Amino acid sequence: MANFSPTTLQLLLQLLLFSLAYSVLEAEYENNGVGESLLDESSTRPSRLSSPARRHNATCCVLERKMTKIGTSEATGEDTLVDVGHCRRRCRGRRRHMKKAELERLMRENPTVDPRTLFMLHSGRGRGVDSCHEEEVCLPSAWRMEHFMTRQGQVSVTVTESCQCQVRAHSCRRQPRSVTLHKDTPLQTTLDLGNCQGHCSEDLECRATKSRSVSVEGPNGAECVSIVEECGCEASCYRATLYHHLYNYTIMGSPQSQVIDVGTCVGECDNITPEDHCISRESSGGCVMSLVKKSFHCSPTGLQHLHYQHKDGSSRTLVVVTRCGCQ
Ligand SMILES: *[C@@H]1O[C@H](CO)[C@@H](O)[C@H](O)[C@H]1NC(C)=O
Ligand SMILES: *[C@@H]1O[C@H](CO)[C@@H](O)[C@H](O)[C@H]1NC(C)=O
Repeated sequence: MANFSPTTLQLLLQLLLFSLAYSVLEAEYENNGVGESLLDESSTRPSRLSSPARRHNATCCVLERKMTKIGTSEATGEDTLVDVGHCRRRCRGRRRHMKKAELERLMRENPTVDPRTLFMLHSGRGRGVDSCHEEEVCLPSAWRMEHFMTRQGQVSVTVTESCQCQVRAHSCRRQPRSVTLHKDTPLQTTLDLGNCQGHCSEDLECRATKSRSVSVEGPNGAECVSIVEECGCEASCYRATLYHHLYNYTIMGSPQSQVIDVGTCVGECDNITPEDHCISRESSGGCVMSLVKKSFHCSPTGLQHLHYQHKDGSSRTLVVVTRCGCQ
């Protein structure tokens, strides 16, 4: 039989206790690995032992303040700041130092755990972990529309009202976007205005390719609200759907009601340098003559002419945009 000295035994016992404490910690974490627990300075919830590296719960996916300048106040001439809200993508990082009282509280609440272990787990620096599961992302789940009068005119601002862990959109597609208009007034109404989200290849962005406008009742009469219907990966200047409804009298006596997508060009062209089209340069390198105008507009680069007949027999032409570009 092995002959242990009392000090060796004591050491072994300490080691055993230490590993036992650790498994308790692990078990506690598995059961309720939630929330900011005592890592969050603003938290008043009871302390919980959690290891941020393995936490998978949505308790950090919350709404935060985000002050944004929307214009200049008509009355004061100062910047008008609005809290547009923001969904927290990451849990707050761990705090660097632990106060004595905090450690004492932890020791009271976890009497079986070595204070050194408690200190190790709950102090030190650390980057916050993601607010949601790997496949999900903390995104707004409800918005409200607010209007503000500024020196630049009336500004409509979409304010985030709540956040939720949502499955990350892989490919570009339309996502629901529930927006409340005229909140807390007798005219309150909630509409799904849609949103384009998801991944696109380089140089392209997920944008609305088809929209529809609806009217909602406002305090000053009907208001027009645009609803996204379809999305696609598009460059900064692109063709979007725009319908035209007409009666085609080509076959006399039986007019046909036709809905035609005449298209429209939307987007911006400011990231293109006219220098690309320079045909004559100064010795210094400046452009003297260019094939294109300096100002670029997103406009049709491809058109198609469709013919139809009007009620009185006259011939009409409908111009359809087939392509858009910066020119
Ligand atoms: C987070 O965990 C708590 C407690 O285990 C649970 O009640 C809650 O539903 C979880 N939240 C999410 C979004 O999974
Ligand atoms: C009008 O109708 C004629 C005959 O059906 C057709 O050929 C023509 O393309 C139509 N025009 C338009 C603008 O659709």
